[in-house]
Amino acid sequence: MKLINFKEIDSTNKYSKLNIDNIEDKTIVSADFQTGGYGRFDRVWVDLGTENIYMTFVLKPSDVLLPVHANLTQYLSVTLAQQFIEMGLSPQIKWPNDVLLSGKKVCGILAETVISGGKLKGIVLGIGVNLNTSADSLGLIDRPATSLNLELGKSIDKQEFMNELINRFFAGYDKFLQEGFPLIKSDYEKLSILQKNTGEVKIAVFNIIKEGKFSGFDNDGTLIILDKGGIEQKINMGELV
Ligand code: BTN
Repeated sequence: MKLINFKEIDSTNKYSKLNIDNIEDKTIVSADFQTGGYGRFDRVWVDLGTENIYMTFVLKPSDVLLPVHANLTQYLSVTLAQQFIEMGLSPQIKWPNDVLLSGKKVCGILAETVISGGKLKGIVLGIGVNLNTSADSLGLIDRPATSLNLELGKSIDKQEFMNELINRFFAGYDKFLQEGFPLIKSDYEKLSILQKNTGEVKIAVFNIIKEGKFSGFDNDGTLIILDKGGIEQKINMGELV
């Protein structure tokens, strides 16, 4: 495992994609400050200062893209949630991979693939975690957000937190690649904000809204709903609204 840290960069994901050929498998690219961080659906990922985490796991598991690779974001969300649990917190996961504390987003995860000539060059798995932020700064974010320091009422040692997260991630990574989502399914289900009694859910898939009764998660990590006609619909992208 290798670490590359920038004082300032546009985006650790963007850097990793552009330099994929020169970055070894299992390298962590991190930045103290991101000037152009982005998230899912091309949203801006606001920089909340140097005491927060902005990092990208550069992974080269094989030269073909496999279904299990799509579940790495869920694996990382469970890994982070388990770290929070050991700190005495009660995290939840909002499908597919947002981690919430007190019902508010504390972390965002974005995986991107680099494919060239039909071959997978690498996966860049980016994560931003709000570790030390003021309630005022959180006002810059246009949806409910929180930060670990505010949840715990004390400041968080960034280096220690980051090292722990990286170690936890790689401790189960090889097994996860072999076994896929079933390895984390029961943990994911327990952590999910969607539970058997949740009832109706709405999922935005770009600008299409899908509605139905929450039914469960499939072995490949997709969300299953029952539509009005009682027909199962499997949803593998989008976000809960
Ligand atoms: C989301 O919730 O939409 C995902 C946010 C991902 C943000 C991280 S911060 C590190 C890495 N670099 C980026 O530009 N984005 C990811």
